[in-house]
Amino acid sequence: MENSPLQVLTVATAPYPDQRPSSSGLRKKVSVFQFKRSYLHNFIQSIFSSIDLRDRQGSTMVVGGDGRFFNRAAIEVIVQMAAANGVGRLIIGHHGIMSTPAVPCVIRKYKAIGGIILTASHNPGGPDGDFGIKFNTANGASEAVTSKIFQISRTLEKFAICPGLRVDLETLGKQAFDLENKFKPLTVEIVDSVESYANLLRNIFDFAALKDLLSGENPIRVRIDAMHGVLGPYVKRILCKELGCPAISAINCVPMEDFGGQHPDPNLTDAAELVDSMRDGSFDFGAAFDGDGDRNMILGKHGFFVTPSDSLAVIADNIFCIPYFQHSGVRGFARSMPTSTALDRVAKATKIEIYETPAGWKFFGNLMDAGLVSLCGEESFGTGGDHIREKDGLWAVLAWLSIISTRRRSVEDIVKDHWLKYGRNYFTRYDYQNVDLDAVCDMMEDLEIMIADKTFVKQRFAVKDKIFQVEKADNFEYTDPVDSSISRNQGLRIIFSDGSRIIYRLSGTGNDGATVRIYLDSYEKDLLFEDTQVMLSPLATIALKISQLHLRTGRIGPSIIT
Ligand code: G1P
Ligand code: ZN
Repeated sequence: MENSPLQVLTVATAPYPDQRPSSSGLRKKVSVFQFKRSYLHNFIQSIFSSIDLRDRQGSTMVVGGDGRFFNRAAIEVIVQMAAANGVGRLIIGHHGIMSTPAVPCVIRKYKAIGGIILTASHNPGGPDGDFGIKFNTANGASEAVTSKIFQISRTLEKFAICPGLRVDLETLGKQAFDLENKFKPLTVEIVDSVESYANLLRNIFDFAALKDLLSGENPIRVRIDAMHGVLGPYVKRILCKELGCPAISAINCVPMEDFGGQHPDPNLTDAAELVDSMRDGSFDFGAAFDGDGDRNMILGKHGFFVTPSDSLAVIADNIFCIPYFQHSGVRGFARSMPTSTALDRVAKATKIEIYETPAGWKFFGNLMDAGLVSLCGEESFGTGGDHIREKDGLWAVLAWLSIISTRRRSVEDIVKDHWLKYGRNYFTRYDYQNVDLDAVCDMMEDLEIMIADKTFVKQRFAVKDKIFQVEKADNFEYTDPVDSSISRNQGLRIIFSDGSRIIYRLSGTGNDGATVRIYLDSYEKDLLFEDTQVMLSPLATIALKISQLHLRTGRIGPSIIT
C-alpha cells in the first residue's frame, strides 16, 4: 500500500461532439488524444459511466494496448480514472502491451467485466500517427455498448481521477493503492498475457503435431513478420520457444511505438520485406500481422499469396484438421458481404449454414454467441473462430499450419486443390484513400439512384469480348437473425448473372479524409490459374465507368490494390 491514501478529484470538463466510436472503437490522430484538453479523460469517463455503478464498484477490468506511441501515457490516465471510478482490480499487460485477441482470453481468465484496448489496429503509429480506444465487455464489442458510451460523451460535465497514482508497468505481479476516505483500494496486476493466450491456443490446436511439423525430422521453414506490432513476443514464445521454429523464422518481433515508421498492415504492399525474403524459396510458409495482432496474411513458398477470401474458404473446407472443431463441431460459417463467395461454395458442398454480414467483426458476435457460427472471416485479412469474439491473426496461422501438417501439402498445392475442387473466385479490392468526402458522397448517392432504377436490372455491359448482365443491385441491408436489428446502408452491390459482383463502400475506419473501396469478385469454373488483375479488368472498367470515380476525385488510379 502507498503510505498516505491517494486523493480523488472530480474535475469539470466540457463534452466533445465527436467521440462516436466506429465498429472498432474511437480512432483519432495521436495529437487529438494528447493535446486536446481532457479529450482522453472524457472518453475514458464515458466508458466507465456506461457501466452500471453496481457492476463497476469493486469490479475487475483488463487494460492493454498494441504498444504504439501514447500507449503508456493513456494507461497511466486510465489507471488513475479506474481507481476514482470504483474499479477494484485492473489486469494490465506487461509493459502495457496485450494483443487484441489476447484481451478476451485475459478477460475470461480473470472473470473481468470487460477490457479497454488501446489500438488503432493497422493504422500508422508514432507522434504523427493514429491512436484508438475500444471497450469490450465480456461478450466482445457491441453496438449497444458503443452507442451508450457515445451518448454519455455528448453531455459529459465532469470526470473522476486520482492524479497522484503512479503505476509500474514493468514489474509483473500485484500493486495496491489506498484511496482517501470512502473509496475502496485498487489492486493492479501486471500479467503475462502471452502465457494466457498460449494456453488458449494449446486447447484449440494439436501442439505436438505442430511441433513435429515445425521442428521435427523434416520441418517446414516458416517466416513470420510481426511488423513491429504487438505480436512479436507471442510469435517468439509460441512459435519459436514452444513449437521450435528457428530464430530466423521471426522478424520484426520487437514492438515499436511507431512500428518502425511503417504501416503495420499485413498486405503485399506494406509487408514487402516479408514478401521479398520469401521470393527465393528459402521459406515454405509466410505470415504477417497488423499492429494489434488480429489481422493476418498467409503466403506460400516464393511468396505465393493466399487471398483472405480463399484462406477462409480453405480453412472451412479443412476445418476438421483443427482439433477444436473435431470436439465442438461446426455450426455455421459467416463472411462479410464484400468477402468473395468462395466460402459459399464450401458451405453448399458441406451443407453447413452460411451467413452474410456487413463489413466489421462486431456483426459476427451475435451469431457466435447464439451458437449459429463457428468460423468467420473478412476479405480485409481477418479470420477467426468462435473461441473469442475478435479476429485472431496467430490463430489463423496455426489453422493453416494444422492443415499443412494433416495434409502434408504445400500452401500453393492446398489452394490449387481447392480451386480444382470448387472453381476459383478472383477477388481484388481497390482503395482510394484520402479523397474528397463531398465528391464521394455525391458519387454514392448518384450510384444508388442509378442502381435503384427499375431499368438497371437486366442492363448489359460489354467490355472487350465479355458481356455482363445485371441480375440484382441494391444497397446492402442486414437483419441480424438473433436480435432482428437492422443495419442499413452497408454498401452498394451490383451482382451480375454469372455471379460476378461489384461493390462500393465508404470506409468507416480511415482517418485521413474519405476512403472509397471498390470490391471486385468473379467466379471461374475452368480458368483457374490466370492473373487476378487481368481477369478482373473488365469488371474494373465497368465499376469505374458507371461511378465516374476518377473524374469525381481527380485520381488516375487506386491508392492501393489488395
Ligand atoms: C475495415 C475493413 C473491415 C474491418 C475493419 C476493422 O473497415 O474493411 O472489414 O472489419 O476495417 O478491421 P472499413 O475501413 O472498410 O470500414
Ligand atoms: Zn487490427
